[in-house]
Amino acid sequence: MRILTVIGNRPQFVKAAAVSKLLRERHDELIVHTGQHYDDEMSRVFFDELGVPAPDRELHAGGGSNTEQTARILGLLEGEIATARPDMVLVYGDTNTTLAGALAAAQAGVAVGHVEAGMRSFDRAMPEELNRVLTDHASDLLLCSTAVAMENLVAERAAGEAHLVGDVMADVSLAFQPIAEQRSDVLERLGLGDGSYFAATAHRAGNVDDPQRLERLVTLLEAVPGTVVLPLHPRTAARLEEAHLRERLEAAPNIVLTAPLGYLDFTKLAAHARAVLTDSGGVQKEAFLLGVPCVTLRDTTEWVETVEAGWNVLVDLDRDAALAALERPTSVGEPPDLYGAGHAAERVCDVLAAYTARG
Ligand code: UD1
Ligand code: UDP
Repeated sequence: MRILTVIGNRPQFVKAAAVSKLLRERHDELIVHTGQHYDDEMSRVFFDELGVPAPDRELHAGGGSNTEQTARILGLLEGEIATARPDMVLVYGDTNTTLAGALAAAQAGVAVGHVEAGMRSFDRAMPEELNRVLTDHASDLLLCSTAVAMENLVAERAAGEAHLVGDVMADVSLAFQPIAEQRSDVLERLGLGDGSYFAATAHRAGNVDDPQRLERLVTLLEAVPGTVVLPLHPRTAARLEEAHLRERLEAAPNIVLTAPLGYLDFTKLAAHARAVLTDSGGVQKEAFLLGVPCVTLRDTTEWVETVEAGWNVLVDLDRDAALAALERPTSVGEPPDLYGAGHAAERVCDVLAAYTARG
């Protein structure tokens, strides 16, 4: 089967790292990089560190509003799909790249496979929620990370064929933890001791685009009782500057700002942190898999198992709730095997092979 994989941003490079290598053992794969993320530290580093095969085509379609970006990618993909004539287009997650890939394929009459189908926050104000719902309903193969995602698709009567495969990001996390441990010198570079700091990330539009919410985020991070290492996502960096809040973060005695980190550095940073504070989807799961308590700077999550298991607390941008969550006792045992324990990419490939065999 000829598969056209459409990826374009940081979490998708991580997800494709698990799948593309295996996929190529059984199928022909072409990768189109939409260019949604384009800085080396948001893109190239993941290809280098995780061994994602080099893109066959690059669309350079980053920037702009969600609507402009989705439309630009959609228009460019039409030609790519016509030229490549794939049997299936494979998309990941919930970004503008995901929706544009699914829609372009469906409109061209090409089957769509969606990895990470069925995730829902039930918050339609998130651009990602709209992308997820629309992508799922345009997809033929719905490849789910969790049982809850499967239930969501049943509840929505999604027409595609759903399979529980586990989480491909967990495959990468488990495979690269020992490599990160060995190769990354991030703790030495930043002068950090094991368990002596907190790792934080924030980029969700709902947290950083509104200056008042952004100020609440800054206030919350300033109040954390200890060093907070915050690798700045480019959206957040831009919004902090526009709101004149970057100086305040730089002046805060407990905050260490860095550029976005490569996967190995970030994994090591998170693994040795006392706790992780984040609004990222991927980072919530990774904290869970690393056995590090997580405080999520949102009031909803798609990864409900992490909360049910007591590893993750949702605090939105409420400073006092975040401080209480950081104080909570945590029993760090084996994380439950909820996310497929390193075999999700294999299952994705099996499902694709069975789909092809059926013609
Ligand atoms: C996107 C996804 C979000 C995902 C996140 C992963 C959508 C709607 N959002 O959000 O779901 O969690 O990626 O990180 O698809 N920029 C740079 N350099 C880059 C990339 C971006 O400077 O390499 C700046 C640009 O000004 C750009 C802005 O960041 O306009 C936002 O980037 P964009 O990809 O539109 O959204 P993200 O916030 O990254
Ligand atoms: N990540 C990284 N460097 C950083 C921050 C995050 O490598 O400085 C990785 C993280 O380990 C995870 C992925 O980026 O694998 C998550 O992407 P992001 O938070 O941008 O997107 P989301 O998962 O929220 O869609």
